[in-house]
Amino acid sequence: MEADVTVGFDIGSRAKARCDLLGVAPYSEVEGQLTRRFLTPAHGAALTTLSGWMLEAGMSVRRDAAANLIGRYEGELSGEKALIIGSHIDSVRNGGRYDGPLGIMLGIDVVEALNRAGRRLPFAIEVVAFGDEEGSRFPASMSCSRAIAGTLDPSALDMTDAEGVSVAQALKAFGGDPDTIASAARKPQDVLAFLEAHIEQGPVLEAEGLALGVVTAIAAQKRLMVRIEGTAGHAGTTPMNLRKDPGPAAAEAILALERICRAGTDGLVGTVGRMTALPGAFNVIPGAIEFSMDIRAETSATRDDAVLTISAEIHAIAAKRGLRAEVKLMQALAESPCDPSLMGLLEAALADLSLSARRLPSGAGHDAMVMADLCPVAMLFVRCEGGISHNPAEAVTEADCALAAQAMLHFIDKLERRERA
Ligand code: GLV
Ligand code: MN
Ligand code: MN
Repeated sequence: MEADVTVGFDIGSRAKARCDLLGVAPYSEVEGQLTRRFLTPAHGAALTTLSGWMLEAGMSVRRDAAANLIGRYEGELSGEKALIIGSHIDSVRNGGRYDGPLGIMLGIDVVEALNRAGRRLPFAIEVVAFGDEEGSRFPASMSCSRAIAGTLDPSALDMTDAEGVSVAQALKAFGGDPDTIASAARKPQDVLAFLEAHIEQGPVLEAEGLALGVVTAIAAQKRLMVRIEGTAGHAGTTPMNLRKDPGPAAAEAILALERICRAGTDGLVGTVGRMTALPGAFNVIPGAIEFSMDIRAETSATRDDAVLTISAEIHAIAAKRGLRAEVKLMQALAESPCDPSLMGLLEAALADLSLSARRLPSGAGHDAMVMADLCPVAMLFVRCEGGISHNPAEAVTEADCALAAQAMLHFIDKLERRERA
């Protein structure tokens, strides 16, 4: 049976409405904004509601040891390998409602459409809600998809949040099991492919008047934590020439990062998104400044060159001012190409809907880049208003979400045909 625009419910627009519903407390840690970090009560509340929707859609539901929520819609025979459709349910602080959740909700809608049509495939479909794509609670990200891909370094369980709670402790309190986290890993022979639908988080599709796009590759990224140390002192009594103040050094470091990235190629970008002056008071010259650096490029080589250059500059800036600097690598993700054959199926799916299949790379990170270690991956981008993301103003249209769901159904048709051939 071909995918059909008529499925008996508002496919896609319901997905958007569900993202909106999860955009407020208790699905947010903070009233009046969306902040849903990994292993918080807001994350737990979202998984409970998602479970209900997965069950209604015709899936069996389980949580694995890494706090992934997994709904499974069996194929013609039970136990067949699965097409995994998924994205993340966590958010950045004061984030948008669609970055992550839309891909999960679209997966649920697509399964419900198949179930309502009584349609079974030569493969199972699993819808996964990953819990930690953003890394907004602990210093590294994507621990849930890494657990499924079998690439999670056990040391990730020792990372701590700002309150000193480790991933292992938080996972245990959440009902996960750090001791058996390896059991979350899937066997490559049990997984056919991974499909992630996600808002573009950039302006390209909108600028070209296109609803959907096919992702070619996801940019390489590194996360660094920088600490510049001086001497804490009295803000009123220490003359400017006798200070060991790490503040101006940190400012120089940020300007250096901007200069290096502006001069770079391959989409090189660098961001300081978090900065803390310690101890942090109006009247104290800080003893240390700590800040994050997020550096990305289309190739690992370009990213690594930039990381080496900025690290050397930070040490030079500190030395010139008689300060000490430390640059610590928190996370490295290589660039991740999408599977050419699945990209072809997505393109054909868009052609079925008379949509041109714009191919574009992703500067944002996605669980798909981790899942690529397990199986072939494909990503479908959905236009978002003004390209705005990681911002409460994030917006998508119901019509685009409906088209995305239809494109996913057509993709599944094509995958079915390929698997039966
Ligand atoms: C996640 O959105 C990332 O790109 O860091
Ligand atoms: Mn994000
Ligand atoms: Mn995302």
